[in-house]
Amino acid sequence: MSVVTTQMHGDIAVVTIDNPPVNAASQAVRQGLLAALQATEKSQPAAVVLICSGRSFVAGADIREFDKPFLEPMLPDLLNAIEAATRPWIAAIHGTALGGGCELALACSHRLGLSTAKIGLPEVNLGLIPGAGGTVRLPRLIDPLEAARLAVTGKPIGAAEAHKLGLFDAVTEDDLLTAALTMARDAASQPRPKPLLSREAPAVAAETWNTAIAKLTSKARGQHSPHEAAASVRDALDHDGITALGLERERFMRLKGSSQSAALRYIFFAERTVGKTPRTKGITPRPTANIGVVGGGTMGAGIAAAALLAGLTVHMVERDLDAANAGAARVEGIIGGSLKRGLISQTRHDTLLQNFTTASTYASLATADLVIEAVFEDMDVKKQVFAALEAACKPEAVLATNTSYLDVNEIAASVKDPSRVVGLHFFSPAHIMKLLEIVVPETVADDVLATALQLAKSLGKLPVLAGVCDGFIANRIMSSYRREADYLLEDGALPHEVDTAMRDFGMPMGIFEMQDLAGLDIGWAARKRRATARPASERYVDIPDRICEQGNFGRKTGRGWYLYGEDGTPQRNPEVEALILAESARKNITRQSFGAEAIMARILGCMQSEGAAILTEGIAASREDIDVTMVNAFGFPRWKGGPMFLRDA
Ligand code: 3HC
Repeated sequence: MSVVTTQMHGDIAVVTIDNPPVNAASQAVRQGLLAALQATEKSQPAAVVLICSGRSFVAGADIREFDKPFLEPMLPDLLNAIEAATRPWIAAIHGTALGGGCELALACSHRLGLSTAKIGLPEVNLGLIPGAGGTVRLPRLIDPLEAARLAVTGKPIGAAEAHKLGLFDAVTEDDLLTAALTMARDAASQPRPKPLLSREAPAVAAETWNTAIAKLTSKARGQHSPHEAAASVRDALDHDGITALGLERERFMRLKGSSQSAALRYIFFAERTVGKTPRTKGITPRPTANIGVVGGGTMGAGIAAAALLAGLTVHMVERDLDAANAGAARVEGIIGGSLKRGLISQTRHDTLLQNFTTASTYASLATADLVIEAVFEDMDVKKQVFAALEAACKPEAVLATNTSYLDVNEIAASVKDPSRVVGLHFFSPAHIMKLLEIVVPETVADDVLATALQLAKSLGKLPVLAGVCDGFIANRIMSSYRREADYLLEDGALPHEVDTAMRDFGMPMGIFEMQDLAGLDIGWAARKRRATARPASERYVDIPDRICEQGNFGRKTGRGWYLYGEDGTPQRNPEVEALILAESARKNITRQSFGAEAIMARILGCMQSEGAAILTEGIAASREDIDVTMVNAFGFPRWKGGPMFLRDA
C-alpha cells in the first residue's frame, strides 16, 4: 500500500501520510506527496488537508537516507511546489513536526496543531541545519529572533507557544481531522496568505542580532551546527527567499558530509540501539509499580526521586530513624526543587510525596515489586542487605544493586535464588542523569532482565547492558583514563595542561577538575580498599594520595589539585605542582613537555584500548554501548561520536 493516500471529504481532499514509526519524509513519502499534489492540482478540490497516521506528524527527513546520495524528488523542490499550489493546504499536526516535518508545515498555507503537538527544527542535534527552507520561511512567519532560537537550540516548542508565536494559526483539543476540515473550508473562502518564500524578511539590527546569537550559541562548545544555523537564518534575513533557499541548501549539503554530522547521526541511532537484547524478546517483564530503595544517601535519594517523578510508589529503608528522616528530607528536597522550577504542579508534588514512605525496618518492603540497594560500597555490607531483602521481600520481587564496581555475580550468589538479582548502576544525580547501566550477572533470569529494561523505560532512562567486571563499562574506562592522566603528570604534564586539553577536545571538564568537584577522598578510599589486590608490577602514582594525606579533598576543603578562592574559580596549586616535579624526580623520570594534542592522544588511546578490551571480554556487546556510555556518563563530546567511533573513523 502507498505511504501517501488521498481521500475526498466532500469538496476537501485529505492527503494522509502513513509511514511508521514516525512518518519520516523518505523518498517514498516525497514521491507520494508529489503525486498527491499533482492530482489535487488537477482535480481542484476546495482545499487540501495534510494529516498523518500513527503517533506523529512528519518527524523529519528520513535520517537513514543521509549516508547515500539523495533521490528525487528533493524535499526543497517538493515544498516549493506545495507552497505554489493553487489550492490552500492545511497542515494538521499531532505528535511532533520536526525538521523536514516542520518545513513541510511551513510550505503549507495554514497550520493547525493538536494541543499536545510539538514543533521544532532539531537538525543541529544531527550536526546539520534545516535543509528545506526552515531557516528561510520561519523568520518570514514569526519573530526572526524566535526563529533563530528554534533553529540554533534545536529545542521543539509546544502547541500553545507555537500558536502564540504565530507558527500555528490555531490549536485544537478536538478531533484533529474534523477541526482541520473546518479550517480548510474557511481557508477555501478566504484570500490566500502570501507564500512565505516571497515575503520580505523583517530587518533585525546587527547589535540586537549579535547579542541574541551569542547567548543562543554560548553552550555549543566545539559543535559547529548551532553557529551554522544562526548564520543561515542571518542569510535568510539578508537575501530574498529564493537566494536564501539556495544558500541554506548549500550549507546543509556541506554539513551533511561533515565528520560532526556523521558522529551525531551515529550516536542518534546508537542511543536507540542500546538496551535491546534478543534475550528479552517476547518475554513479559515483572511488575515495577512498587519500588523499594535501601539507603537514603545522595544516590538512594536520587533513585527514589527518579522513581517518584515517574509516578511509581517508593518505600525507602534506612538503618535507623534519623537516617530515614535525613533520606526523606533529601527526597523531599529534590521533589520540592522540581516544584520550584515549575516542572511539576503543587497538586502533582503533593501526590508524589503521598506515594513515598520511609522506614527503619525491612518490613515495609514486603509488597515491593523491585528493590534497589544503594548502600555503602562494601561487599559484606551488601551481602547483609541482600540477606535481609531475601527474608523481607516476596519471592518474585527483583533485587537490584546500585554498586558501581563490586562483583554482582558474587552478590547474586549470596541469595538462594540468584536469578532474581541484577545490577542497576545509576549515575549521580540519579534523578537527572539519563544513563543507566544494567549489569547482567551470569545467573539472571530473562524476565528479570526484561523487568530492569522496563523500569529504565518507565524512568525515562537510557539503558546500556554491561557484563560483570570491576567498574563495568563506565567506571572501568574512567578509571583507566584517570590512571593515564596520573601517568601524564609524572611524565611531564601539569594538571591544568591536561584539563585544558580535555576541555578543548570538548569534554565539559578536565579529569582533575572533575575529581576536585567529586571529592578526592572518594577515590582515595577506593584506592586503599584495592591496595592489596594491586599487582606489585603495576605502575602506581602516589601524588593523589599525598594530596589527600594533607586533608586536601578538592573543592569542599578549598584545596585539591587546584586552589579555590572565594568565588570558586580553580587556580593552579604551586604545592601540588612542586609535589608532581618531586615525584617525577624520585622515580627518575625525565619530564617531557606535552602539547594538548599529545595529551589527548594518550587519554583517547587509553579509552580506546580499554574499550577494545571490554568488547573482547564481552562486557559490552557493541561499540555503541561504549560510545553511548561515554557520551552520557562523562560528557564525551557527542559531536565526536564516542571513543570507539573515533577509532574506527
Ligand atoms: N528518520 C529515520 N528514522 C527515525 C527518524 C528520522 N527522522 N526519527 C525517528 N526515527 C526512528 C528511530 O530510529 C526509531 O527507530 P527504531 O524503532 O528502529 O529504533 C523510531 O523512529 C522511533 O524513534 P524513537 O525511539 O526516538 O521514538 P520517540 O517516540 O522516543 O521519539 C522522535 C520520537 C521525537 C520523533 C525522535 O525519534 C526524534 O527526535 N527523531 C529525530 C527528529 C529529527 O531530528 N528530525 C530532523 C531530521 S533531519 C531533517 O529533517 C533535515 C531536513 O531539514 C531536510
